[in-house]
Amino acid sequence: MSTSRTAGIPETSANRPATAFDGRRIRAALVGAGAIARGSHYPALARLAEEGETEIVAAVDIAEGAVREFCAEAGIPHAYTDLDRMLEGQRPDLVAICTPPTLHREQTVAALRAGAWVWCEKPPVPTLADFDAVEAEEGTDGGPYASIVFQHRFGSGARHVRRLIAEEAMGRPLVAHCQTTWYRNADYYAVPWRGRWATEGGGPAMGHGIHQMDLLLDLLGPWSEVRAMAGRLVHDVETEDVSTALVRFASGAMATIVNSVLSPDEVSRIRIDCERGTVELTHLYGHSNDNWRITPAPDVPDADVAAWRDFGADVPSSHLAQLRELVASMRAGERPRSSGADGRTSLELITALYKSAFTDATVRAGEIGPGDPYYAALHGGAPGWAPVDPEVPLDQEVPA
Ligand SMILES: NC(=O)c1ccc[n+]([C@@H]2O[C@H](COP(=O)([O-])OP(=O)(O)OC[C@H]3O[C@@H](n4cnc5c(N)ncnc54)[C@H](O)[C@@H]3O)[C@@H](O)[C@H]2O)c1
Repeated sequence: MSTSRTAGIPETSANRPATAFDGRRIRAALVGAGAIARGSHYPALARLAEEGETEIVAAVDIAEGAVREFCAEAGIPHAYTDLDRMLEGQRPDLVAICTPPTLHREQTVAALRAGAWVWCEKPPVPTLADFDAVEAEEGTDGGPYASIVFQHRFGSGARHVRRLIAEEAMGRPLVAHCQTTWYRNADYYAVPWRGRWATEGGGPAMGHGIHQMDLLLDLLGPWSEVRAMAGRLVHDVETEDVSTALVRFASGAMATIVNSVLSPDEVSRIRIDCERGTVELTHLYGHSNDNWRITPAPDVPDADVAAWRDFGADVPSSHLAQLRELVASMRAGERPRSSGADGRTSLELITALYKSAFTDATVRAGEIGPGDPYYAALHGGAPGWAPVDPEVPLDQEVPA
């Protein structure tokens, strides 16, 4: 007989307690009907709908015409312009949040309070204070949980290399490079909400490099200290347009990180040198097995190299790959990857990167908590970086 919290309810064939979603489709809703909702979330949810896993019940957008058109095209039965009304009317099991970052906190909290699990686009929320406020609304036993979209962690390549590193198959990881060198021109930054702390949330460290840094942390585990620099070299923005950082990991491994929107030859790259081999990922916006390269040290036996290079069936990194795991976690009533502490790691590192760059100091893991100016604002109120309110005399500007 089951001794779990669902004692009395028959166990499923998988020999686990029954959960809320056994024997039925997960009812999903989309919030925001823009580029990422249409291009990535809808196709992933629709694919799982074909497989009998999900059902897309509604979409929400403040742009009424756009959400109506999207629902008509996609065959989604209910279009809303108000999130609360949708939550009340449809009672979805899963809400995919595809809106600009400054809305993520309030929309995630609303969905969690309505009992829905959340899959929220990156960057998760603007600050660690926001992240902790969201986490406080999660369920404590079996959900609902809020998972962040970090699709580059998912798929066969990342899974294989994570296991190789965790098992130290290639020996200890020692040296790493993490590079997001992209190119964005003046037209890109002419859009008024871009390049501003209040509306974009941060510069390329937050908006662009977060994916590679998140993957680096997923592969290498916890970091212990960071020293960083940020620059505003080209664009007329409040945030940075380039940053570099040196990071020491708890394991002792050391990494360099570059996040740039000034690099005409665009690439996303992670390279990790372990004692017996180097593993390198080179891509732009997503990867498959072919994007990974493993180079052994001279004395490594061929059989080891062959095993390291056996990535198995190719599952490209994608929203679909992450959504499959999320749905499996929902069915199991388990906290999904990329939620809670596991979803917070890249925001922690980015916050520390900004603090180090703007204060010219080493920042240690765990030191930014309530009371620290960088906990509640990524710019930390730093002179020369924090937004200047033209209504407030400069000598009255205070850290947020
Ligand atoms: N995971 C990735 O690789 C990836 C790629 C691109 C964008 N993103 C992220 O996805 C998010 C959305 O980006 P996008 O490119 O789709 O933006 P977008 O501007 O194309 O779409 C955002 C949509 O949200 C709607 N919206 C605004 N306020 C709303 C509200 N209060 N309620 C409901 N809808 C509202 C807008 O009308 C718009 O349709 C951002 O956080 C972005 O960083 C992630």
